[in-house]
Amino acid sequence: MMLYFLLLSIFFVTSNAVMDLGAPGYTCDPSLMAPSAVKPTNVHAVRPADINLVMAMGDSLTAGYCTDDTSGCHLEYRGLSFGGGGDRGLDNHITISRKTQAELSQIAIEYQQAEKAIEQSGDFDTTDDFTLVVQPWFANATLPYFANGTVNRAWWAVDCYHFSSYGHALLSSWYWKNLLQPVGDKISNANLTVPALPLACPDPSCPYIRTTKNSMNCQQFNGTCVSNGGSCTTGAQCCGGLCFNLQCM
Ligand SMILES: *[C@@H]1O[C@H](CO)[C@@H](O)[C@H](O)[C@H]1NC(C)=O
Ligand SMILES: *[C@@H]1O[C@H](CO)[C@@H](O)[C@H](O)[C@H]1NC(C)=O
Ligand SMILES: *[C@@H]1O[C@H](CO)[C@@H](O)[C@H](O)[C@H]1NC(C)=O
Ligand SMILES: *[C@@H]1O[C@H](CO)[C@@H](O)[C@H](O)[C@H]1NC(C)=O
Repeated sequence: MMLYFLLLSIFFVTSNAVMDLGAPGYTCDPSLMAPSAVKPTNVHAVRPADINLVMAMGDSLTAGYCTDDTSGCHLEYRGLSFGGGGDRGLDNHITISRKTQAELSQIAIEYQQAEKAIEQSGDFDTTDDFTLVVQPWFANATLPYFANGTVNRAWWAVDCYHFSSYGHALLSSWYWKNLLQPVGDKISNANLTVPALPLACPDPSCPYIRTTKNSMNCQQFNGTCVSNGGSCTTGAQCCGGLCFNLQCM
């Protein structure tokens, strides 16, 4: 079975992009970075190492347009991209007037509130192979200013509009951190002057990509088992490859 994630206002971290920032020594406890013993069929029990395929929908920023071009814009650098959505406020900060910016900020706020409402509605939590999680790190982010108040141009590609690989990588570091933070405790005011280093590691008490359900109660997703029931702790039931504290449904 395929597991689908729909992640809004989010971006995907590529290891190459992160390396650009000089985080080659990224390590976490090996048990946290190992794939699940049994391939999860439950979207709330997916460890980072269980993920084989990532898809993103978005715009030219998502596609990494211009990222590594050195004169003019010619190509998409999808492999360097950090994903799509939520970036309009940042780009417009340097290109448009303050008034328009205020209007766009209002639209962005309403958009974020709508996303959050969909997440909280539970409309996407009716099956265990699909969920939706809002990653809010960009919502109240601090732009990449130097101490002297000027914007860090290294963030942008040659067209001064799309992100450079440095910009993508830095954004990815914050996005990665957000993915591993529980819903309700996700940072929403990333300081984009600096990358979120050292890169985040999964929480030992809930080493999964965090979802609404595993943020409320991770215990029920804690541990995999085989369907004949062998390996859950006493009192738990093996249901569909996971140990549950309740009866299987
Ligand atoms: C961002 O900050 C504004 C103003 O302080 C606040 O109203 C809003 O709730 C914050 N948004 C998030 C997602 O934290
Ligand atoms: C601000 O600081 C940055 C980094 O040190 C430097 O490159 C830039 O020239 C400075 N800008 C001004 C206006 O001093
Ligand atoms: C963001 O980080 C920079 C560099 O550490 C720091 O100088 C600045 O005060 C921070 N800004 C905020 C709003 O925390
Ligand atoms: C999950 O199990 C591990 C041991 O396998 C334990 O350290 C951790 O606290 C448990 N997490 C929860 C949320 O109970």
